[in-house]
Amino acid sequence: MLHRPRRLRKNPIVREMMAETKLSKDMFVYPYFIVPGNGVKHGIDSMPGVNHFSTDMLIRDVEKGMELGINKIMLFGVGDEKSEDARSAYHDHSLVPAAVRELKKNFGDDLYIVTDVCVCSYTTHGHCGILKDDYVQNDETVEVIAKMALTHVQAGADMLAPSDMMDGRIGAMRNLLDQHGYVNAAIMSHATKFASAYYGPFREAADCAPSKGDRKAYQMDFRNPEEALREALLDQSEGADVLMVKPALAYMDVIHNLKQNTDLPIACYNVSGEYAMVKAAAQKGWIDEQKIVMETMYAFARAGASIITTYHIRDIVEKNWM
Ligand code: PBG
Ligand code: ZN
Repeated sequence: MLHRPRRLRKNPIVREMMAETKLSKDMFVYPYFIVPGNGVKHGIDSMPGVNHFSTDMLIRDVEKGMELGINKIMLFGVGDEKSEDARSAYHDHSLVPAAVRELKKNFGDDLYIVTDVCVCSYTTHGHCGILKDDYVQNDETVEVIAKMALTHVQAGADMLAPSDMMDGRIGAMRNLLDQHGYVNAAIMSHATKFASAYYGPFREAADCAPSKGDRKAYQMDFRNPEEALREALLDQSEGADVLMVKPALAYMDVIHNLKQNTDLPIACYNVSGEYAMVKAAAQKGWIDEQKIVMETMYAFARAGASIITTYHIRDIVEKNWM
């Protein structure tokens, strides 16, 4: 036999040499949920290992994470005042901007801060925008989203991650930031965010489930890979720096397609439901958690993601899985 592919699988040394996909800590972003108060750290039932933190406790936890090499975090605010017009989303004393200021005071530029930009935790109805006649108004919402982004950047956020799926929000954010001189604020767009049942545990954690209806009139239909590429190319043309695919596990084809057909770095968001499935099966002893998690992380990278947002990263670094 001329060709024996098994020659290159003979032992660990040659297997390492031949590995086509590599992972490093530099690729990971760790999400956090911030709540009001002091001394708060409670677990989220459906997301074992993930907590709600008050800002003081968050700082302690981030410090521990940084010692292990987690220096990129994504912040979600939970528990600010809710209103019809989501005004607390862009107050500069709201939870997220206040936490960003505290984190930057403590860690400076050793910590890279990404903030989620969306109003669903700030609206009484839980939709990702301003509601009129049961329809989320696009252009009115975009104005609010842009103001929210500006507030985060003024507080010191390094990167914005808009997750609302309104049309034209990347361009509007980019304009407003430029007008105020924040030319170096990066935007990691949730360019292709699908209306997904995999967000279930998060909605409980972020208290942002829509009280009525669903998100299908703004998030994407999971049957539409071509539309996903159009969405991504629009965000690229509006000035996004990174394109994100969300969820990740059931959307590997989309990650790969965006990698092939856009010119920007591709990120994926390994969401709450994906995390919960692994954790639940691991707790039952039905799967080998370490092996399942690492196989999954390599799959994201193999598909084309160079940035991975995942709740698993804390276990990966703490337990030395990588
Ligand atoms: C809301 C938002 C969601 C997630 C991030 N931002 C849920 C949703 O759109 O309903 C999901 C994240 C996760 O499940 O881990 N803008
Ligand atoms: Zn939202």
